Amino acid sequence: MEKYETHTHDVIVIGAGGAGLRAAIEASAQGASVGLVCKSLLGKAHTVMAEGGVAAALANVDSKDDWKTHFHDTMHGGKLLNNWRMAELHAQEAPDRVRELEHWGALFDRTKEGNINQRAFGGHTWKRLAHVGDRTGLEMIRTLQDRGIHTGVDVYMECTITHLLKDGDRISGAFGYWRESGRFVLFNAKAIILATGGIGKSYKVTSNSWEYTGDGHALAYEAGADLIDMEFTQFHPTGMVWPPSVKGLLVTEAVRGAGGILTNNKGERFMEKYDPERMELSTRDVVARSIYTEVQEGRGSPHGGAFLNISHRGAEYVKKKLPSMYHQFKEFAEIDITKEPMEVFPTTHYVMGGVRVDPETAQSTVNGLFACGEVAGGMHGANRLGGNSLSDLLVFGKRAGAGAAEYANKINNDVKVHDEEINNAVKEMLEPFENTEGENPYTVHQDLQDAMGDFVGVFRTKEKLHEGIEEINILKERGSQLKIEGSRMYNPGWHLSKDLKSMLIVSEAIARCAHQREESRGAHSRVDFPNYNDEVWGTVNSVISKDSSGDMNLGTSPLPQMPEELKKIVEGGYK
Ligand code: FUM
Repeated sequence: MEKYETHTHDVIVIGAGGAGLRAAIEASAQGASVGLVCKSLLGKAHTVMAEGGVAAALANVDSKDDWKTHFHDTMHGGKLLNNWRMAELHAQEAPDRVRELEHWGALFDRTKEGNINQRAFGGHTWKRLAHVGDRTGLEMIRTLQDRGIHTGVDVYMECTITHLLKDGDRISGAFGYWRESGRFVLFNAKAIILATGGIGKSYKVTSNSWEYTGDGHALAYEAGADLIDMEFTQFHPTGMVWPPSVKGLLVTEAVRGAGGILTNNKGERFMEKYDPERMELSTRDVVARSIYTEVQEGRGSPHGGAFLNISHRGAEYVKKKLPSMYHQFKEFAEIDITKEPMEVFPTTHYVMGGVRVDPETAQSTVNGLFACGEVAGGMHGANRLGGNSLSDLLVFGKRAGAGAAEYANKINNDVKVHDEEINNAVKEMLEPFENTEGENPYTVHQDLQDAMGDFVGVFRTKEKLHEGIEEINILKERGSQLKIEGSRMYNPGWHLSKDLKSMLIVSEAIARCAHQREESRGAHSRVDFPNYNDEVWGTVNSVISKDSSGDMNLGTSPLPQMPEELKKIVEGGYK
C-alpha cells in the first residue's frame, strides 16, 4: 500500500480565497480544529480579481439605500432565478460583514465625512460598492489572511485535493497530494467546506488563473452532491484583448462605474442601442452581449474589441481611483489610459452555477459537505451583479464556517476512512504514469478550451451545444488515456491530468444544462430561443448529479417558493 501522511481536524476547508478564509475564521471561532488546504500559495486567489468593490447597502453615499433595494437589484440581476433566501440573507448581512472587515483592519477608501466610500456598479440602484481604489479584493484577502493565521487555523499550501472520502452517506475526509513532492496526504475530517472558486480554465479567454479548474464542483459531484444552474457562466464584459499574452485579463467594472464610455470603430456610443437607460452601467450579461455583437457585425476595434475610454475624468482622478488599471495598461499594452481608450472584449470570469446548498448553513445535499463562495450555486441566479461576489463570500463564508463547526460538534468521533477508497484514489492518480501509450494532457486541455469557446460561448444554439457535447464526450475518452512522463516531483503535466478530469466534468455539466434550457435568461443566451420562457424555465433550477451507474444525470427542480412580503419587494420596482 502507498505511504501517505495524515492530518486530523474537525473541519477541513478546501480553498483559501476570501470564502475559504472567512469560513476557516468562523469555524475556528466556534471552537473547531480547522485545516485550510490550498492548491496555490495562501492569498493567491481569484478574490483579488473582484477589483472594483464589495456590494453592501451601507448607505454611506446614497442614504436611501437599504437591504431591500439590494435584494431587489440582486434578484432582478439574476433574472429571478436566485435562491430567494440566499439573496435575502446576503443583502441583510453584507453591511455587517463589511464593517467587521474594517474592524479587522481593512483600509477602505473614505468619504469626506470619514465613512467607507461607495461607488456605482452595473445593475445596482445606488452607489453601493465599498472599495479600495481598484484593489478591493486584494485588501480583503490581506485582511482575512492576517485574521486567519492569528486565529489558530493550520494552513496546508500547495496541496491539491483529488478525492473526498465518505463513511456511508457522510463525509469522512479528503485525500490529495503535495504539488512539490507528489507525495500523498490524507486529511481526516468530520466536515469539509469547499471554497475552491470557479471554472474559468475550461475556457481559453478568461480572467481566471491556473488554479480555477472547477475542482470543488467536480469533488462535490463525485461525492454525490447536486450541482445547479451550471449553464450560467458569466462573461465579464471587459477583459483585455491586446497583447495576446494578457488576453482575458480583467478590466474592472469600476472603470464604467467611474464614467467609462464604450464606443465602436465608428465612434458610436453603442450602449444607447442596447440599454439606453443604464448605458454602460447595464448588467454584465447585457454589456457583454452588446460588445460581442458590435465586434461580430464588423464594428470592432483594431484588435477585435470595443473602445473603453476614461480619459475624460482627468489623469489625477484616474491614477487615484484606478491605479491598477493605469499600471496594467501602461506595462502590458503601452497605453496611457489617462490619454487614450482601452480595447476590451468579454472574458470568462465567474460561474453562477454550483453546489446546491442550504442557505442557512451552506450544507450541500451530502452530510458533512459544505460549500461557499463561487463554488456554491443559487445566490446569483442567472447573472451576478458586480461586487456581489465579495459580499457573497463574506456572508456565506461565515455561515459555512458556523454550519460546519456545528455539524462537526454534533457528530460522534467514529467517522471512518476506508482503505479501499484510498487505494482507489492512489490507483487513479498513478495510472497516467503507467500508461505506455496515451495523450499529452496539454493537447486535450487546449482542445477542450477551443470546444467551450466555439460551442458553449456567449451566444449558443441547439446545434452548437450538441456539437459541444459530442466533442466533450470525445475529449472524455481522450482524457481517460493520458500518459505522463517523469516522476511525481513537481510535475505540472501530472497536475493537469487531474485538473483536466475536473474541467471535463464541469464542461459537460455546463454544456448539457445549456442544451436543456431552451430560453435566454441572464448570462445564458440561446440564439434559437431569444426570449424568456417564464412558464417553463422561470420556475426551475437545472440540476446535475451523478447516478448510480456513474453517469451524469440532468434534470430540473422547482425554485423554492418566495414569501409574499419578498415578492412585493421584487415586483415593486423598489427604490
Ligand atoms: O470588475 C470588477 O471589479 C469585478 C468585480 C466582480 O466580479 O465582482
